[in-house]
Amino acid sequence: MAISTVQTVTSTFGRFLPSKLLLSTQGPNRFDELVQALKLALGPSSGLDSDDVDIEYLTSLMREYGSAESEWSRFAFADASRGYTRNLVDDGNGKSNLLVLVWTPGKGSPIHDHGNAHCLMKILKGNLTEVRYAFPEEGREDPMKVISRKTYKENDQAYMADELGVHKIVNEGDNFAVSLHLYTPPNVAKSGCNIFDETTGKRSHISQCGYYSAHGVRLPNAV
Ligand code: SIN
Repeated sequence: MAISTVQTVTSTFGRFLPSKLLLSTQGPNRFDELVQALKLALGPSSGLDSDDVDIEYLTSLMREYGSAESEWSRFAFADASRGYTRNLVDDGNGKSNLLVLVWTPGKGSPIHDHGNAHCLMKILKGNLTEVRYAFPEEGREDPMKVISRKTYKENDQAYMADELGVHKIVNEGDNFAVSLHLYTPPNVAKSGCNIFDETTGKRSHISQCGYYSAHGVRLPNAV
């Protein structure tokens, strides 16, 4: 693996993190290097859910990666019978979930929250549209309020968290689109998330957000 550690400094969150990990310019697979760099940045397994992560640094690592389909295609399972597939790439020493999502044309995710975790999304292929809504007040029944709508293209990146609202992602194109998602801490994988009805804001809890494949292997009875 061709990752070079340049310097070590104390991050703004008080943990020692490499100040800069450079992805090689011509390594055999820069996607694999990115996966390892993210894992290293999140630190060794502590057995604890830690949210003292340096989001700027994780964002910069993901931004540095330029998408090359041959490098991540083994994780990208498409299934036109579903809105999208969730494919586990890595669990970041128990600190995160790194997923490749493959989006069916014309379909998308329900409006959902992020279980009090950070969500970093990078587009690997195609275009995806994110619609953000104000977090609905519990107990009220009102149509949900759209606060933004943005279409991202290949290599664009976005950040989402519950304090910014809730969102849905839609593939409005004619071809499958692919995105890379880093969730940290992995709260949704452990405890699920809430989905919301656009017309009433009513929430329902989903206890399991499962995987279609893990580490490049299709899971039988995938949810
Ligand atoms: C998911 O992880 O299932 C949904 C991705 C997203 O829309 O943020």
